[in-house]
Amino acid sequence: MRASIITTTTSFFLLLLLLYPTAIATATTPPPSTKPAVATESPSPPSTSTSTSPTLDPNQLRALQFLHIPTTQDPCTPSTCDTTVPFRHLLSLRLTNCSSDHRLSTTILSSLSTLTSLTFLNCHIPIIHFPSSLSANLHSFTSINSLQRLTGVFLSRFHNLTHLYISGDPIKVSGVHVITSKMKSLKTITLFNTHLIGYLPKDWNPKLTHIDFSKNKLKGTIPTSLTLLKNLQVLNFSSNNLIGALPNSLGALTSLKTLSLSSNSIHGPIPGSISDIPGLVHLDLGSNQLNGVIPEFISEMKELKYLNLENNKFHGVLPFNASFIKNLDVFKINGNYDLCYNSSVNSVEMNLGIAPCDKHGMPILPPPSETDTSSYSVDDLGGGGGESGGNDGDDDVEKKNGVHVNRGPNKVILGVAIALSAMVFIVIFLVLLFVC
Ligand SMILES: *[C@@H]1O[C@H](CO)[C@@H](O)[C@H](O)[C@H]1NC(C)=O
Ligand SMILES: *[C@@H]1O[C@H](CO)[C@@H](O)[C@H](O)[C@H]1NC(C)=O
Ligand SMILES: *[C@@H]1O[C@H](CO)[C@@H](O)[C@H](O)[C@H]1NC(C)=O
Ligand SMILES: *[C@@H]1O[C@H](CO)[C@@H](O)[C@H](O)[C@H]1NC(C)=O
Ligand SMILES: *[C@@H]1O[C@H](CO)[C@@H](O)[C@H](O)[C@H]1NC(C)=O
Repeated sequence: MRASIITTTTSFFLLLLLLYPTAIATATTPPPSTKPAVATESPSPPSTSTSTSPTLDPNQLRALQFLHIPTTQDPCTPSTCDTTVPFRHLLSLRLTNCSSDHRLSTTILSSLSTLTSLTFLNCHIPIIHFPSSLSANLHSFTSINSLQRLTGVFLSRFHNLTHLYISGDPIKVSGVHVITSKMKSLKTITLFNTHLIGYLPKDWNPKLTHIDFSKNKLKGTIPTSLTLLKNLQVLNFSSNNLIGALPNSLGALTSLKTLSLSSNSIHGPIPGSISDIPGLVHLDLGSNQLNGVIPEFISEMKELKYLNLENNKFHGVLPFNASFIKNLDVFKINGNYDLCYNSSVNSVEMNLGIAPCDKHGMPILPPPSETDTSSYSVDDLGGGGGESGGNDGDDDVEKKNGVHVNRGPNKVILGVAIALSAMVFIVIFLVLLFVC
């Protein structure tokens, strides 16, 4: 729906990216004085801009015109073109909101082969063959809700990329390694919601700082080789079909700030080595099959601001006190039915979404019905099942227990009703048949 809105409000734009400001600025006069000057002169651009700096390569100008990009004003800014003479060349191009009649031809792309950065945003156009000169020059390639029929082989030809970002465009490929194995300079890769299948690669470029493969269909385990990435800061594999245990050597990722593995089927304990990651800010392991006790060292992680361990199978006593939890921006622990909190350390008002512990450290299980009027146990239950307030808590407990208690009878009644009405129908039918 969003795509159709965008394609109907079609226009084709050249947006000027600020990717190489310092490099270009040093080659010209100081930027603070040049930039406003260019802006004020822009009503009569062709003559004035030629007088201050060389114009764009005529072939590239024609290519832009072919793409319906307005060229009455100099499309170059200090950041989008180089400063070669006699003609400048485009370095960075961003195509937004293309219409369906826009076509990229090999001729156009050939003349744009000086580009180092190419971005498609809401450009629903079929991909075509990219000339090898352009493929080799690109350092940054982005496609967001744009290129259709992307393949791993197509992307793998951009072997000089440092940044690859694809979002919302399905990629036909047997595994991520097909895309990345030749990219020796790759630093950041995002393949979000791209229908990726297959296993995670075994070989990783040690320069990688950012890996986001979230919302795909990747399967298999997290390879231990991943933990060799000393520079990795962001790792997001959330919403895939990953299984197996977390690698014990996960703590070797000493630069890591964000670890998101939520919504997979990862089991086993949280490895103790995670305590070796000094700067971890964001730890999201929610909605997996993780078990064991929650390690106490997590409360010693000074930078931690986001901690999601919800919907797992942790057991034992929650090892966090109130002041640790209050210092987090986000803390989620509900949906761990064998986990409980120590009521002399955490209060009911914190609405942790887990049950309080008895004196043996076992959860005090909420009784099946909510009719108990004893004030203490009702309060405890509210805290035990709640996420955000006493009433919500009671709802949660009811939901949890009601799945089995309530729906069972409902289904039986429904079945009996259907059977009865079927029998009545058959009887009426037989009677009518008999009468006829
Ligand atoms: C592209 O279209 C969207 C939605 O119609 C609009 O909000 C956005 O400003 C457009 N972008 C450009 C660069 O025109
Ligand atoms: C691209 O990579 C090739 C080798 O794969 C190298 O020879 C070439 O200089 C690189 N080009 C750029 C612009 O980085
Ligand atoms: C990881 O990916 C999920 C799904 O795309 C997203 O919601 C989440 O914000 C990402 N996490 C981080 C820390 O970027
Ligand atoms: C809470 O736990 C943290 C980390 O374990 C500890 O440093 C702090 O002293 C504790 N605070 C209280 C009030 O017990
Ligand atoms: C709860 O905390 C108190 C005070 O720290 C401690 O004495 C008690 O053993 C704890 N109970 C459980 C079940 O861990």
